[in-house]
Amino acid sequence: SIRSVIRGVGSYLPAKTVTNEELAKTVDTSDEWIQQRVGIKERHIAAEGEFTSDLAAAAARAALDNAGFAVEDIDLIIVATTTPDYTFPSAATLVQMKLGMHHGFAFDIQAVCSGFVYAVATADSYIKNGMARRVLVIGAETFSRLLDWTDRTTCVLFGDGAGAVVMERVNLAEGEPERGVLTSALRSDGRHWDKLYVDGGPSTTGTTGHVHMQGPEVFRHAVGKITDVVYATLEQSGYTVDDLDWFVPHQANKRIIDGAGAKLGLPPEKVITTVDVHANTSAASVPLALSVAVADGRIKQGDLVMLEAMGGGFTWGASLIRW
Ligand code: ACO
Repeated sequence: SIRSVIRGVGSYLPAKTVTNEELAKTVDTSDEWIQQRVGIKERHIAAEGEFTSDLAAAAARAALDNAGFAVEDIDLIIVATTTPDYTFPSAATLVQMKLGMHHGFAFDIQAVCSGFVYAVATADSYIKNGMARRVLVIGAETFSRLLDWTDRTTCVLFGDGAGAVVMERVNLAEGEPERGVLTSALRSDGRHWDKLYVDGGPSTTGTTGHVHMQGPEVFRHAVGKITDVVYATLEQSGYTVDDLDWFVPHQANKRIIDGAGAKLGLPPEKVITTVDVHANTSAASVPLALSVAVADGRIKQGDLVMLEAMGGGFTWGASLIRW
């Protein structure tokens, strides 16, 4: 059977970090409030002139190195982002150019914080239907550019960064050990659009706009939606929570991660958490967390890994992968 196997993982974080103490100098907040409510200590912020496609290309190069592949080996690039360099063309075509890739095809996926999980599911479909053989799947954001830096209720929560994986089509022979993406489940419900949105865009204001969030409403929906889609993914593939080796959630907020982990009955040591040092990097958060846990040797070949995310729209989804 045809499987999409993860061959490599990479990431890129802008050099500049901003601690909670530094933020507290410009907005009325405190390290204690931020750590207690969301578990964030610091975030990376892109430099002036450093764009989403730059972060994405750097993460892509790291993932290609990790996989031992060259740009020539890739035939599709998918970038999950909600902060593209330009309204068009896509960030993905700019990444294609920056990598020096002149073949294949490239496009963006917009599902905000769920973007990377949507992109993994999309890449898996393209691989399974034969349209692609090796896919660079990237989550990249310069989310800092959507923030109102005078609004303490949102500006403390987010950061910039990028993560990437290389997925390859593998034809598993009869009796070979299971590998690759087993199943994904994606959901959305546009009735919730204004609980978390950016008040700008080409068709409305003609400006970029800023993030607006009904924090407690987002929190209220998050844990239930995450656990529902995780259970759906497990059920589709005949596994239970106890079979999971690793849970790699979207890194929005320590309390949401802990709430979902507890509701699923997952031991905390199986949950990969990087929100403390990356903050919420939207579509980049899951591949950033993945790259940390692969690099430090926690996630290794043969492990059963659940990716999960939830974000604006609302959108949410999960993907179960045999590493
Ligand atoms: N520093 C200090 N005080 C603050 C800050 C801040 N950065 N931000 C808000 N406050 C104040 C508020 O003004 C309010 O003060 P008031 O009572 O005097 O009006 C008080 O803290 C409590 O505000 P609430 O919004 O009720 O606080 P709550 O306990 O709900 O926590 C939070 C807010 C942390 C945002 C919470 O609602 C939450 O975690 N929501 C989920 C949001 C999230 O994670 N979004 C990420 C994007 S979505 C996603 O990726 C899944």
